[in-house]
Amino acid sequence: MIVDGVTTEHARLIAIGEIAAEIAHELRNALQVVATSAYLAKLSPATSAPHLAKIERHTRIAQEIVDDLMSLARGEPAKAEPSLLADIIVHARASLGEDLHVHYTDELTPSTLRVRAHPGLLARVLAVLYDNAIAICAPRAPQIVTRASAGDTGTVILVSDDGPGVPTDIATRIFDPLVTGRAGGTGLGLALAKRIMQAHGGTIALVATERGACFRIVLPA
Ligand SMILES: Nc1ncnc2c1ncn2[C@@H]1O[C@H](COP(=O)(O)OP(=O)(O)OP(=O)(O)O)[C@@H](O)[C@H]1O
Ligand SMILES: [Mg+2]
Repeated sequence: MIVDGVTTEHARLIAIGEIAAEIAHELRNALQVVATSAYLAKLSPATSAPHLAKIERHTRIAQEIVDDLMSLARGEPAKAEPSLLADIIVHARASLGEDLHVHYTDELTPSTLRVRAHPGLLARVLAVLYDNAIAICAPRAPQIVTRASAGDTGTVILVSDDGPGVPTDIATRIFDPLVTGRAGGTGLGLALAKRIMQAHGGTIALVATERGACFRIVLPA
């Protein structure tokens, strides 16, 4: 089929190219930890055990990221299962690196809240949001608040920070690939987050707030 001069195969190849770039984007933190830990292990072989453990942990995280995101390249809907949101949050933060100074506050109602989601993919969405708040506030440690509750129409997760907020000139385009408002950014994080939410039949949006930035994720019931 040809739509606007683009065949379905061509459109699929474009999507796969975007997903490949997004996988590379998500692997950066794990590779950085592996490189730093390998360097430290080499410096002091006698005390290398914790560094080797870190390398093992982050290599596994990298493998999970590739496996999870490849399912998006196959065009499959996300394999959602009832999962503890608190565990997904822990997983998201562990993938960001281990020596970051961030003040996290979680308000999950109830604290044992379960969501219907692919745990690895939802962790990527949260990691993208946390990663952005950290990058935008650097070198200051941001305050990041995660709120979540379930309603009739699904689960709503709000992630907000105390940074400068999203620049108004790009606010309507931040979920498009390659739109960035910061030096060193590539504009892939939020595009991936949107793709993952679409694979869940859910949504992600920027919401108005008095201070900082606030993102709302909705997972269907
Ligand atoms: N928490 C936030 N506070 C302020 N601006 C934000 C926030 N999150 C995203 N943005 C804005 O949205 C832009 C797009 O974010 P996105 O994650 O897609 O790309 P990036 O962070 O610029 O680059 P990449 O994630 O590919 O390294 C950011 O450059 C920034 O301008
Ligand atoms: Mg980003």
